[in-house]
Amino acid sequence: MKKFYITTPIYYVNAEPHLGHTYATVSADVIARYYRLKLGKENVFFLTGTDEHGSKIKEKADQEGKKPKVFCDEVSDLFKNVWKQFEITNNKFIRTTDKEHISFVIDFIQKLKDNDALYEDYYEGLYCVGCEKFITEKELVDGKCPDHLIEPEIVKEKNWFFNLKKYLPQIQKLIQTDELIIMPEKSKKEVLGLIKQGVPNFSVSREKNKVQWGIELPWDSSQLIYVWCDALTNYVSAVDGKDWWPADLHVIGRDIVKFHALYWPAMLIAAGYELPKSEFVHGYFTVNGTKMSKTLGNVIDPLEMFKEYGLDATKYLILSQFPFGQDGDIEANKFIEKYNSDLSNGLGNLFNRVLSLVEKNCENKIPEKSNIKELESLISNTWKSYSKNMEETRRIDIILTEIWKVIHESDRIISEIKLWELVKSDSQKANEYLYSFLEVLRHISWMIIPYMQKTAQEMQKQLGNIEFEKKKTLDGAKEWGGLEPGIRLQKGNVLFMRK
Ligand code: MSP
Repeated sequence: MKKFYITTPIYYVNAEPHLGHTYATVSADVIARYYRLKLGKENVFFLTGTDEHGSKIKEKADQEGKKPKVFCDEVSDLFKNVWKQFEITNNKFIRTTDKEHISFVIDFIQKLKDNDALYEDYYEGLYCVGCEKFITEKELVDGKCPDHLIEPEIVKEKNWFFNLKKYLPQIQKLIQTDELIIMPEKSKKEVLGLIKQGVPNFSVSREKNKVQWGIELPWDSSQLIYVWCDALTNYVSAVDGKDWWPADLHVIGRDIVKFHALYWPAMLIAAGYELPKSEFVHGYFTVNGTKMSKTLGNVIDPLEMFKEYGLDATKYLILSQFPFGQDGDIEANKFIEKYNSDLSNGLGNLFNRVLSLVEKNCENKIPEKSNIKELESLISNTWKSYSKNMEETRRIDIILTEIWKVIHESDRIISEIKLWELVKSDSQKANEYLYSFLEVLRHISWMIIPYMQKTAQEMQKQLGNIEFEKKKTLDGAKEWGGLEPGIRLQKGNVLFMRK
């Protein structure tokens, strides 16, 4: 049986979740939900969690006058709470302060040492606490980290280093041949470009007196494991190194590509594990052109948006804003416009229009089966691109665009044939159209399950067939003609109230 293991980045607990984290988690959730439909619930594992060690967290806890663990407990709960509100379907929430994770990391790093991947040396250079990374002069803009707009610290310390250079040629080949898929293409190119330029070896530990909050190196108690080595390992430790591993897909933001596409595979090879099959790099939300981040204080609160638009609409609005894989500037004032045009006037109105016509002209019952060719092929083509976008290119935004094309095309056909007049002049023909439009709506309800489950369920309920639909597999649902004639519709509330 095929399985699917998908992860999000684990989020730093230096502050509460914002819309950027929500975007990454909701995207992965959509993909996880799709695979559950396709492969069965038990064959999908979806992981998210929080990254809790390192200087950045320690500093923040100190500022708040809290013990680091107490502080981590609080912020980690905030993440859990937002994911609960967003009905995120993760199978596990990992915290890097979990006992099991800590012991896994200790074994993992010991393996790196035993397999001769590590050596001791001095690090002398710059460190950005915001990124928790060693940074070079070249990466700075006006002497500051471009992501956090802070000056990096100058550090000189004795560390254990990972011999990345030894593994890079192998990784280069794996990425070039797509044995390790890095998507989208521009991210793959970026990673290959980095390898070409040369990426220095990196520290896997830091001096304890500098960092103070982390996991001790098993063979040298003066050193704490570098937070990134601790963090990346979560993907394997969460599934105890077996069964689910390797991951099928890591969803990550573009700021952490180097860690995931270079450090992580190299560490896995050195420790003797299989590599993840693919990584999808999504873009960044910016606000007025600057990265949205807790450190910069320009965040949009996902719960505020949730209160304003409700769950399904919020998810739709954030996923349809930008191409998945590219950056985009947030224009919150566009949300309301898009809500009204796409959800209320788009999907909601089409649904209402078709059900009303059936109510008035077919005694509210599903008419005889028909297959208006234009509509049937519109649906079958949309399903084809749906699978390709979901399973190959992971363009979950294009799927939404295509579903909305079906909605617009349906509206166009209704106007073209003047369906509201046809029901009076040629009821036979009108009924053929009505059945096919109801089928279109049933298909749309299935297409949106991974994105907007509540709306999908409401549509299926009003289509009179919820019990029947529940028993279907995705493949069964994709066939034309699923609605049974004679069944009474249960037209109810509008799907999206106009704002
Ligand atoms: N803890 C590390 C990741 C370790 S993974 C083994 C980290 N955490 S983070 O909280 O700073 O950011 C994690 C992820 O959140 C980003 O990679 C990205 O997926 C998402 N986002 C954070 N800010 C974002 C935006 N402004 N826009 C879109 N996504 C953003 O890095």
